[in-house]
Amino acid sequence: MKETIEFIQKQIKDFVPEIGIILGSGLGDFADNLDGIRIRYSDIPGFETSTVAGHKGQLVFAKVCGKNAVIMQGRYHYYEGYHISRIVYPIKVMKKLGVNTLIITNAAGSVNKKYNAGDLMIIKDHINLMGVNPLIGENDSTLGDRFPDMTEVYNHSLAECAENKARELKLSVHKGVYAAMSGPSYETPAEINMLRIMGADAVGMSTVPEALVANYCGIKVLGISCITNSAAGVHPSRLSHSEVVETAAKVKDSFMKLLIGVIEEI
Ligand code: HPA
Repeated sequence: MKETIEFIQKQIKDFVPEIGIILGSGLGDFADNLDGIRIRYSDIPGFETSTVAGHKGQLVFAKVCGKNAVIMQGRYHYYEGYHISRIVYPIKVMKKLGVNTLIITNAAGSVNKKYNAGDLMIIKDHINLMGVNPLIGENDSTLGDRFPDMTEVYNHSLAECAENKARELKLSVHKGVYAAMSGPSYETPAEINMLRIMGADAVGMSTVPEALVANYCGIKVLGISCITNSAAGVHPSRLSHSEVVETAAKVKDSFMKLLIGVIEEI
């Protein structure tokens, strides 16, 4: 960790990021036009190299609406085969660099039958079905408690702010529960049925590890899902990653407007 922080600080000098942003599948463009310092994951000691199509794999340090931000253009997924501690390492790094608010975005399938592809969902809570918890292992008490409370992983006032902004922008927005599966296979219709009975509104393969660790470290979290497809069995059609990336690309302009609107208010 010391080596990671020293490496990054040497490049960003006295820039102290307050806001962290994780850009999910197909949403990475947000950081493309920002004037900032870019550091590839593959160059950072302690970071892994991200591999999924539609994910870039770099940190961008830039001002967004006058606020200092660090943006993850691409994230690590558990299904890539990394140990869960590697997936959440960047969140611990963000904490050490000064981040106090984290905006996590993702692409998700709709479990709730009232949701449509292209809608946005502000995450109000999650169900961790990944089969793993990123806090397993020796606890670093400089970051957080051994048994951290998870009553409000997704900060209520940030969620309300995002919902209001989305409505102002006339976006189709919901507030719902995100269920995390390990992937990489999409779910079966029976699994989606199970998730619906459990109270999930959307399903995806990310976000939960990062949100758990951020909350554990005392970082406030806002989670926003871009609903890219109906989950398995909702419609007769089959699921594909290209559909996910295509829908995310269609929604990305409104998604970016929402992100900017929220960052202005933070
Ligand atoms: N299931 C799981 N992850 C996803 C989906 C889905 O339907 N869509 C986008 N990410």
